[in-house]
Order: sequence, then C-alpha cells, then structure tokens
Amino acid sequence: MKKYKIAAIAGDGIGPEVVGEGLKMMRHIAELDGTFSFEITEFPWVCDYYLETGRMMPEDGIKTLSGFDAIFRGAVGRPDVPDHISLWDLLLRIRKSFDQYVNLRPVKLLHGAPCPLKDVKREDIDMLFVRENSEGEYAGSGSWLFKGKPNEVVIQDGVFSRVGCERVIRYAFELARKYGKKLTSISKGNALNYSMVFWDQIFNEIKEEYPDVQTESLLVDAASMFMVRQPERFQVVVTSNLFGDILTDLGAAISGGMGLAAGAHINPERKYPSLFEPIHGSAPDIAGKNIANPLATFWSVSQMMDHLGYEEWGKLIIDVIEELFSERGMLTPDLGGS
Ligand code: NAD
Ligand code: IPM
Ligand code: MN
Repeated sequence: MKKYKIAAIAGDGIGPEVVGEGLKMMRHIAELDGTFSFEITEFPWVCDYYLETGRMMPEDGIKTLSGFDAIFRGAVGRPDVPDHISLWDLLLRIRKSFDQYVNLRPVKLLHGAPCPLKDVKREDIDMLFVRENSEGEYAGSGSWLFKGKPNEVVIQDGVFSRVGCERVIRYAFELARKYGKKLTSISKGNALNYSMVFWDQIFNEIKEEYPDVQTESLLVDAASMFMVRQPERFQVVVTSNLFGDILTDLGAAISGGMGLAAGAHINPERKYPSLFEPIHGSAPDIAGKNIANPLATFWSVSQMMDHLGYEEWGKLIIDVIEELFSERGMLTPDLGGS
C-alpha cells in the first residue's frame, strides 16, 4: 500500500480548529480508498513554540520537513508576537526553502455559496490565480538605516529575476493551454518602472511561444475593479507575489468569503514538498469560539489530493462542499449557518 508522509502544523488562533477537521477528512479518504494511507506527523511550530524557544521552528526544521511528501498547515499569527517574525521564520521560510514558486489559488463560486455581487451567475466567477511565490515584493531584501534617528530611512526592494518571472509565467501559460482558457497577466508597469516593465516584457516574450492561448494584460488597479464589475473576464491569472496576495483576498470576498478560499504552494519540479493551506489567517477575532469555517481547509485537502495524483478525490471534495450548500443544514455562521 502506498504511504504518504504528511507534516502537519496546526497554526495559531483558528488554525488548529480547521486543520483538525482537514486531518479527519484526510484519514477518512484514505480509509475509503484503501489503496493508500497517510502517515501524519504533527509539529508544534506555532507562536507558543516561539514564546518558549525564541524561534518558530528548530534550526534543522527545514531539513526535517524535506523528508515529507507534503505539508499541511493552518495559519500562524498571534497579537502578542510580531507578524513579520512569526511569518518570516516559518511560512515564508518554508515557501522559499522549498522553492514553492507557484501559489495556486482558485477563485470559484460554488453552487450555493454566498456572493455579494449582483446578478452574477455561478459560472461567471471561475478563476485560477497563479501567484508568483518566491521573490518579487516578498524577496525580503532591504535595509533600515539610521534607526530611531530623525533621518531614518527604510528600503524594501522588489526583486524580479528573469528566471523567477519566466518560470511562473510559463507555468501559467501551460495551465491555460491545458484547460483551453484565457490567461490574464496583472502588473503595474506604468508606476513600477523597473520591476513591472520587466514583468510585462517577459510576459510578452513568452506569449510568442503560445500563439494558441488568448491573453490579456491589465494594470492591477483596473484589474481589481474588473474582478468586481466583470468577474467573467478572468480565467487563468498570473501575477506577482504581493498583487496575488491582495487580489486573492478580494477573490475570496466575491466567492463565498475567507472561509472558502484555499491555496497550494507548489514546487512544480517536486524536488521539495509542496504546502497546502487555506489562504485566511489565524482570525483572532473568532478564535476559540468553534465557529471557524473549515471548508477552505477541505478545499486545500482537495488541492493536495490533486497534487498527489488523486484528482477524483480532489473533485469529490469540491462536490461534497457543494452538497453541504444545497443541504444548508451544516454551515458555519459566516455562511449563514449556526
Ligand atoms: P484573517 O484572514 O485571519 O481574518 C480576516 C477576517 O476573515 C476576520 O474577520 C476573520 O474572522 C475572517 N475569517 C478568516 N478565516 C475564517 C474562517 N475560516 N471562517 C470564518 N471566518 C474567517 O486575516 P487577519 O485578521 O488580517 O490576520 C490575522 C493573523 O493571521 C495575522 O497575524 C496575520 O499575519 C496572520 N495570517 C497568517 C496567514 C498564514 O499563516 N497563512 C495568512 C494570513 C494571515
Ligand atoms: C497569505 C498570507 C501570507 C502572504 C502572509 C501571512 C505572509 O497573507 O498566505 O495570503 O502574504 O503570503
Ligand atoms: Mn494573504
């Protein structure tokens, strides 16, 4: 029997509440399938661990995780630990160390999910965001000069490498070709006169290799407006790290809310484990109340099943979520349930 080694990190706030449900689902799927099993190892690398040890994970944490087939995670972040520490020392370290340069985030309105937009049909909101996930605005490069002095200066670099842009844009073109979908590139070359001009240039270069793929290039400000006014305009979307972060929370808002939005952080070469987690945070405002919506986490399990080669299970999970909507008996308060 095939065995998959899964590393689980429950996270802070609502993280453990939703990850616990996701793990139950994974175990249940393995039981029903009968041809594979999950060996799940949980790691306590959350803010409590930081407050005890001064680190979010042990020094050899990345080496430990490299032995797993996939990582399954809930959000970290707690009001008494600075966010840039909890996130840079764990989540962003994992994404970068394992070269998970593709972040796949579906923005899809499921049948029965609440949508705040007027006159929108289910099929009008069906996007797949390919977010650059290894560099760009999240390169972590910069400096803090003359700290605390009147002439204090802070510099945060955006780092856009040719290799980094080409690989994620090519990945998005391949997806668009595979599904016969249009590809939209979202950037901001009019203001970011180095990084985004370069991004647009590379997008146009690679476009030449895919004459069969219909494309559109949009500026991020207009794109965010069109996501609300004309969501049907978007199918596969490729964009930078920060724009992808922001636009997918907007995407969550128009397709059922944060409790339904999932993301997969993929190392396409499969040299390292990929990471699966909902896109929402630790939601301190509702933590501990047992009302967190676990459906985004289920959707992440679906993405993990796809990645491991069990696309039928992946699809079944989405069908089950839609069934919950049609039954309307078992939903969390954010979806109008109790
Ligand atoms: P958030 O996503 O945690 O919450 C935004 C709003 O959405 C809140 O009102 C919250 O209650 C609601 N919400 C989120 N998930 C929900 C769910 N499953 N069910 C029902 N409602 C849900 O964003 P935030 O408040 O900006 O961030 C809180 C903390 O999480 C911060 O420390 C932030 O840095 C961290 N964060 C971590 C990750 C991660 O580790 N992957 C991702 C995003 C934010
Ligand atoms: C996300 C989160 C992270 C990001 C933060 C917590 C660093 O917002 O996964 O969307 O910006 O990538
Ligand atoms: Mn985010």
